Amino acid sequence: MSVPKSDYLSNVWANGIFANRVLFITGGAGSIGSAQTRALVHLGADACIVGRNTEKTEAAAREIAKVRNGARVIGIGGVDVRDFDALKAAADRCVKELGAIDYVVAGAAGNFVAPISALSPNAFKTVIDIDTIGTFNTIKATIPYLVDSAARNPNNPSGSDSLTGGRFVAVSATFHYTGMPLQSHVSAAKAAIDSLVASLSLEYGPLGITANCVAPGAIEGTEGMERLASNLVSKSDKDKGVPSGRWGTVRDIADATVFLLSEAGSYVNGTTLVVDGAGWRRQGGL
Ligand code: HXC
Repeated sequence: MSVPKSDYLSNVWANGIFANRVLFITGGAGSIGSAQTRALVHLGADACIVGRNTEKTEAAAREIAKVRNGARVIGIGGVDVRDFDALKAAADRCVKELGAIDYVVAGAAGNFVAPISALSPNAFKTVIDIDTIGTFNTIKATIPYLVDSAARNPNNPSGSDSLTGGRFVAVSATFHYTGMPLQSHVSAAKAAIDSLVASLSLEYGPLGITANCVAPGAIEGTEGMERLASNLVSKSDKDKGVPSGRWGTVRDIADATVFLLSEAGSYVNGTTLVVDGAGWRRQGGL
């Protein structure tokens, strides 16, 4: 039975495809992250959201838990992805309270608009630290649990059931395919994430883990677009210049994430799923 269409999920998925599975997500209180989490929870998963801002993180967890009766969603605030020990403690707490980590989404990111001339060394480093090192820390803190999950859930559609485990998704971008003015820091950080995830897929593929990136293009209603392209927000769809004729939605990214974490994505490993309406091919992503 398919699920009803909502602002965070299309109606092509079956209820329960993530039953008794646990998502651990950084940046899960953000606009894209909360849509990804809602989609997973709607389809049966429990979730642990970690974030820097305790109030925002806990409020997001409470809201997302309403998506499905009986859903267990915990928010752990005060966790900066630059702090490995804090992330490790959050991952351990997730397993203690929810029983496992089957899926990881590394979505935490930092961004501001600045030309190289206005970037101090610390400004550049800050974004590398949040995006790239933060993704590494997230991998490092959760990978033993993903290995356990993959062992319990063979990445094989002919296995004991169709439920999956041991899946990793990082949220990347498309800027580094072309380079991007005012985004040199983010572009470099996301290029490194793509490379890191490719290496992860090679090292852990033999253990049944899949590791991929999803690369959003211009997604309406997000903090990123407010920061990067507030001048374009009020333009009509046809004037936004995306070949598919519109900006993306958070649902587009949530649906792509569901695909990568589901049985349907079992043989997709070590790649980046670009979800941008062909935007970067036209104009470098914006
Ligand atoms: C130049 C800037 C700057 C700006 C900060 N800095 N803002 N430099 N222009 N607009 C510099 C500071 O002066 C400082 O350098 C250094 O960056 C660190 O700044 P802090 O404020 O101390 O850092 P911190 O408190 O850790 O905050 C990190 C942050 C902040 C990235 C600056 O914006 C943040 O916390 N953001 C998290 C939320 C976020 O950005 N979400 C949007 C994600 S959208 P000095 O030299 O002075 O010490 C996204 C979209 C990607 O990622 C692309 C999608 C297509």
